[in-house]
Amino acid sequence: MSKKFYITTPIYYPSASPHLGHAYCTTLCDILARSKKMRGYETFFLTGLDEHGEKIQKNAVANGVTPQKFVDDVAKRFLSLWEAMKIDNQGFIRTTDDYHVATVQKIFSKMLEKGDIYLSTYSGWYCVHEESYWTETQVGEEHLCPECGRPVEKKDEEAYFYRCSKYADDLLAFYESHPKFITPEARKNEMVNTFIKPGLQDLCVTRTSFDWGIPVKEAKGHVIYVWLDALTNYITALGYLQNDDSNFKKFWEDPETEIVHVIGADITRFHTIYWPMFLDSLGLRKPDRVFVHGLMMMKDGKMSKSRGNAISAYPLIERYGVDAVRYYLVSEIPFGENGVFTPEQFVMRVNQDLANNLGNLLNRTVSMIGKYFDGNIPSFVSNVNPTDKELEDLVERTVSAYEVHQDDLNPTQATMDVMELVSRANKYIEETAPWALAKDESKKAELESVMAHLAHVLYVAGELLSPILVTKSEKLFAQLGLADGEANYDDLKKFGKLDGHKVNKGEQLFPRLDVEAETKAILEMMAGPKEKTAA
Ligand code: MSP
Repeated sequence: MSKKFYITTPIYYPSASPHLGHAYCTTLCDILARSKKMRGYETFFLTGLDEHGEKIQKNAVANGVTPQKFVDDVAKRFLSLWEAMKIDNQGFIRTTDDYHVATVQKIFSKMLEKGDIYLSTYSGWYCVHEESYWTETQVGEEHLCPECGRPVEKKDEEAYFYRCSKYADDLLAFYESHPKFITPEARKNEMVNTFIKPGLQDLCVTRTSFDWGIPVKEAKGHVIYVWLDALTNYITALGYLQNDDSNFKKFWEDPETEIVHVIGADITRFHTIYWPMFLDSLGLRKPDRVFVHGLMMMKDGKMSKSRGNAISAYPLIERYGVDAVRYYLVSEIPFGENGVFTPEQFVMRVNQDLANNLGNLLNRTVSMIGKYFDGNIPSFVSNVNPTDKELEDLVERTVSAYEVHQDDLNPTQATMDVMELVSRANKYIEETAPWALAKDESKKAELESVMAHLAHVLYVAGELLSPILVTKSEKLFAQLGLADGEANYDDLKKFGKLDGHKVNKGEQLFPRLDVEAETKAILEMMAGPKEKTAA
């Protein structure tokens, strides 16, 4: 039976067009999902949109359209971005989809029947932007939202509540017995100390002050709180409580499936406190990991649609190709930390890693095999040159470490290791000086070995980077003379795989960018048109 992997992004608010921050999270998940698939896992990658709530309703009004029309339009933009980013997702959920709406109503009814949800009155400080109620202490004397700093409003309403108190102790015990449930570790401590230990208040799970949400069947005028609606997407999209629940059985209920939610720090509380409790209430298993990634910032702070400082991925893809953008996203910011987007760094990454390191190794290798062996990759022999063995060991170590890092949700380190291997191979060229070996017929065996080693390193790098370089890895394989689909993850440690293949000199994978001109071009993209939102 094959191993199974279920990975999700948050479902994004379609309140305006997606920016590079959204592309960041989705691309990293795509890379993780593709790398598992490459290693033989049966994978389900889900992303989607969180379309209900007061904020969306207000944005629709500001744009003079119905909420449904508004989200339909924005949804198209998200879908085209995922297409442009070459996102290979198996599911795309929109919370306005009929099956989701009907299932959330069933979920609500189940919780109500179980006594986990009860009717009462809510009085609290509400932040429209965060769609969250806060306590007196949290908003302080100035009455500002502790999350976003905007003014909050006092609100009273009849509402249903979720009995958090019932599950708090179990949750702490679960954290203890599952140390990797929330990572990075600091996020877990924050949840425990800031929210759980001081005492969890029951969560208000319905609203009556607006109607753009899933109606509560049991009470007219109430809509289900956007977070209860949204979090359950992770199971409704798999068919939970629906006629065809085969994906749910396979990717959620099966204890052999690894379930990973990737989220931004701003929504940790919902995913690590409320979501596990909702699952408890439904008698379902919890995810294995909630991985909190950092934010892609701009020099003037968090990139966000409402701040109007967001950069879109499109012009970058158009000018530099999707592979360069995907590579930048995974390599620039260690997954889990915050990072700042700057044009200079973007250009530097592409130049240093892709053009100078990887591209250069490919060019030099293919040219030399062309020149010295008429394009035929010589048979692989070990231990001819002093550093042959060292390079082979590094190949093996890189493949093994790649798996460890990917499994540990550290695609940045996995990528850096591959680039280290590529650098080592470039250095190996300097050490072995093939141009000198070529001048001496008695050194033919050495020269053959150098070329065979270089070709193999390129094969390994191409395959390990293929979840990132989704179009260029094929081009790299073609230059090594591999037919479509011939590259195979299981062969990475099989030295000699390329014996007898004939290289084909092709175009440069990544042409070197002119630093000054391209920095200027990206700065112009950043000054692109702003959108109108109510936030
Ligand atoms: N709809 C909720 C999530 C519900 S999940 C059941 C939401 N949506 S959001 O669109 O505001 O943000 C979702 C996620 O987008 C963030 O958690 C984060 O993963 C990602 N990002 C949004 N802006 C980002 C950056 N500037 N940088 C990196 N990721 C960013 O919250």
